[in-house]
Amino acid sequence: MRIDILTLFPAMFQGPFSESIIKRAIEKGEVEIYLHNIRDYSEDKHKRVDDYPFGGGAGMVMQIAPIARLIEKLKSERNYDQIIYLSPDGQRFNQKEANKLSLCTNIILLCGHYKGVDQRVRDHYITQEISIGDYVLSGGELAAAVVVDAVVRLLPGVIGDETSALTDSFQDNLLAPPIYTRPSDFNGWKVPDVLLSGNEKLINEWREQMSLERTRQLRPDLLDEE
Ligand code: ADE
Repeated sequence: MRIDILTLFPAMFQGPFSESIIKRAIEKGEVEIYLHNIRDYSEDKHKRVDDYPFGGGAGMVMQIAPIARLIEKLKSERNYDQIIYLSPDGQRFNQKEANKLSLCTNIILLCGHYKGVDQRVRDHYITQEISIGDYVLSGGELAAAVVVDAVVRLLPGVIGDETSALTDSFQDNLLAPPIYTRPSDFNGWKVPDVLLSGNEKLINEWREQMSLERTRQLRPDLLDEE
């Protein structure tokens, strides 16, 4: 999978992509991530990328021209399954959407700043808008990093234990069951006996039951989703 990220702040991705699973996925060639600085596509002599909103009002708007140049260049090089704009107006991101995106070959993630991008970018280039929650971030970068993390860990070969991504919370709209590791007794706080029983059938039944109970208790809304 190839992910092109369009941003005014490429350095914001250095941290998230240089550790752990994403780092390994990049090193193994499971994903190629390209960071493009939108400012490099400004033809203004001061490399300007934003301007005042027509009609007045507070805040600046990201101009269409540099973004259009960059998107047109990328589109001339390959086909993109989705051109995604990260925005609090978008569809709320969830596991189902992460699963869908993990099946794409090429995607673009456009990160907005200030008051956002000129509406014409959204009307003419963007195929999907994603929000990571009902709050306003100072830009789309952290949201894009969240989407990349959730998607890349699902790519085949990325997580060592192939089944482990499938047993995550939310995979079946259920929370994950409680998990424990050694010691089996920590100052009198004991691990449930069933997990030490060696009986795989009983263990699986217990886990399914705990998943359901936990979901009912903590996130009953998930059980109503299809
Ligand atoms: N940009 C600013 N806030 C955002 C959010 N909640 N989700 C995605 N992109 C954003």
